[in-house]
Amino acid sequence: MAWTRRNFLLAAGLGTAAGPLVSFQSATSRPAADNRSKQQKFNNWREVRAHFNLDPKYIHMAGLLLASHPAPVQAAIDEHRNGLDQNPTHYLYDHRQDLVAEIRRNAAEYLGVQSNDIALTDSTTMGTALVINGLSIRPDQEMLTTTYDYYSTHTSLKYKASRTGSKIKEIPLYQDIQTVTEDEMVETLINGIGPKTRLVTATWVHSSTGLKVPIAKIADQLQQLNQNRSEEDRVLFLVDGVHGLGVEDDSLTSLGCDFFVAGTHKWMFAPRGSGFIWGKPETQDDVTPTIPTFTGGAGWGGWMTPGGFKSFEHQWAMAQAFAFHQQIGKKRVTKRLHSLSRQLKQGLSSMQHVKLYTPLDDELSAAIVCFDVEGLTPKAIVAKLRASNIIASTTPYETSYARLTPGVYNTPYEIDRVLKHLHDLA
Ligand SMILES: Cc1ncc(COP(=O)(O)O)c(C=O)c1O
Repeated sequence: MAWTRRNFLLAAGLGTAAGPLVSFQSATSRPAADNRSKQQKFNNWREVRAHFNLDPKYIHMAGLLLASHPAPVQAAIDEHRNGLDQNPTHYLYDHRQDLVAEIRRNAAEYLGVQSNDIALTDSTTMGTALVINGLSIRPDQEMLTTTYDYYSTHTSLKYKASRTGSKIKEIPLYQDIQTVTEDEMVETLINGIGPKTRLVTATWVHSSTGLKVPIAKIADQLQQLNQNRSEEDRVLFLVDGVHGLGVEDDSLTSLGCDFFVAGTHKWMFAPRGSGFIWGKPETQDDVTPTIPTFTGGAGWGGWMTPGGFKSFEHQWAMAQAFAFHQQIGKKRVTKRLHSLSRQLKQGLSSMQHVKLYTPLDDELSAAIVCFDVEGLTPKAIVAKLRASNIIASTTPYETSYARLTPGVYNTPYEIDRVLKHLHDLA
């Protein structure tokens, strides 16, 4: 039997009118902090930077790993922690439902989707695993992935294949990072699909090279291909969007994938240990929950939100991160991050002793910049930058590169300083 939300609810004995699994007393008042500074606009990037507690001694260019909480997010965490410490039971009973609803509302507004289609998770990894684990797939069907997808995707696919008997097919998405085009990626992925393909995975922006994958163009082709397939044979499209979210200004509906997963503790600046899954209304019933929800809220996203008590002070402060990005302005963030990245890439590409791997083209890149310096290992490059108080990272893949990731708190002046240091490594 194919799983649908309806028969899932029936099997769980909950019926279609089931309410939250934990009941609540009516809300009492909470200090008016949830919408703090929602209307605030930033006049310049210095004001944005002033919202971060980042050590000014350093140039921070590894923000793709883990966010520093900006002031409104930290204030919300502190408020929830105090509330929980003073009276855990009442704070939980009185506020949880409203806080979860606020997060989903703010996230939906930012993402351009409906809040009922959003599930709250702890990370990209959790979202990826929940979607793949909950996917309806037959033993004779196949899951198509690419060599450049992330470890969490590959491992979740392996677990799923071993449980269900379904197969995994892995293909390279392009031949050479120096010559890759959008058309090549779309064509390669679509050509990799066979009659038994049930799932296609992609990573919006690769953390290995900084390459941006044309998600909307792939989704477009998949939509055409699916017109000739029955519902159980339809190809579903799962995207790990963690390094595009908070950088690019596309709405999720314009990306066109079926499932989008991301951690919000990187580019979004939400609390560490937060993320979400979005499921397209037309196809979301092809994925059913793995972990029982407690108070996920309404809709598929509610049922997909894993339960168990959590580090609530962190999860509940997610709303302020989406609001913070909206206050800066989605388009402004995209423009700024592309501008800083372009400055960095152009500087690097003009250096004889540096090899740039991330494409210069804005269509093929976001805000991750990967490179090599002649005669130095990636680790040695990062160590040398660190000695100059510049924070970089290495890519954790078989072939490793040095990596710099401009954030909204960086300035063109800082990029120039980084370039000067790299220039002096010759
Ligand atoms: C492409 C990609 N997906 C997922 C992750 C892991 O994210 P999370 O910590 O949110 O699971 C990373 C690395 O941090 C990554 O580079």
